[in-house]
Amino acid sequence: MNVGGKQYRSIWLEADGRSVSYIDQTELPFAFVVRRMTRVDEAAEAIRAMRVRGAPLIGATAAFGICLALAEDHTDASLKSAVELLLATRPTARNLRWALDQMLAEVKDLRPPQRPAAAFAKAKAICDQDVAVCRAIGEHGFRLLRETSATKRGPVNVLTHCNAGWLACVDLGTALAPVYRAHAAGLPVHVWVDETRPRNQGALTAWELKAHGVPHTVIVDNAGGLLMQQGKVDLCLVGTDRTTGQGDVCNKIGTYLKALAAKDNGVPFYVALPSSSIDWETDGRSIPIEERGADEVVCVSGRTGAGERVTISVMPEASTANYGFDVTPARLITALVTERGLCPASAKGLRALFPENAEPERRRRQRRTRG
Ligand code: MRU
Repeated sequence: MNVGGKQYRSIWLEADGRSVSYIDQTELPFAFVVRRMTRVDEAAEAIRAMRVRGAPLIGATAAFGICLALAEDHTDASLKSAVELLLATRPTARNLRWALDQMLAEVKDLRPPQRPAAAFAKAKAICDQDVAVCRAIGEHGFRLLRETSATKRGPVNVLTHCNAGWLACVDLGTALAPVYRAHAAGLPVHVWVDETRPRNQGALTAWELKAHGVPHTVIVDNAGGLLMQQGKVDLCLVGTDRTTGQGDVCNKIGTYLKALAAKDNGVPFYVALPSSSIDWETDGRSIPIEERGADEVVCVSGRTGAGERVTISVMPEASTANYGFDVTPARLITALVTERGLCPASAKGLRALFPENAEPERRRRQRRTRG
């Protein structure tokens, strides 16, 4: 996407073929900083510290992390410890495991000296595939926005939570791809942007939308219900970190409450997802929910009027809990928007679109019973 007149992806391999650059999202929206990494531990740190974030980008970064490890040491031991290190960075996004499985399948049976080149080629392919998938999601979601637009006057009002835009992916985004596509096609669209405490990913969404001239309004997390009651939201469109084979959707904490409010107000609730976010093996109750530190709850970071970056606490020491994600049950979801089109949020709906991945319900039940 476009930043200051220049095309960027959120992560890319440098021309030296040996170092990887990414946009440091902990500096946004105040500063646009590109960082370069050459070691696997730097890739792990970038994911852990949320310099890169969003499920598809976490996967892409992990893929490059494997490349960097193999470039330094192409042995089996190096590969194994890189996978373990990267897998332990963040627990919830399915794309992390997906990308590591893809990388392992690509390199593990090669002669060790062949591994680095094959790994870099595969990581680049994963990035290109992510862009193509997001483009397809954008097309399918665009049709939805166009249909909504046809039934009303004025812009289509979309409510989104967290950041599922191009920063969260390699480019384009999942939930925001249809918005960008609609905007480019001249279809009037306006986005209600949840601030998404405690890390304020809504500020990233607002930064992206502003850079592309898409009308938007940032709201506090608790405002969505009121706006829906007032008829100011035509549809909700969010991303996901992990979607089960039954259509339950794990996404940034607060998504579930928006889905409940949407149900109560008859507002359609859509989830945009690449199939790399689908976990065919698990159910909604078994998804690991990331718990993060108390500092994110009791402190806020920002910039003073003089432009200085500061972190201040907003309450004295307090007992806190900081759950990063929640699970929205399939029954609250109008449809899933995937790279292969829309489907009901159900095992049947997903199975129809992805027959090659879906295990028949009978076999899954047998496997669970066997433990
Ligand atoms: O904790 P984050 O910022 O990595 O969480 C990101 C989200 O919850 C996104 O909505 C999700 O990854 C979808 S991104 C296309």
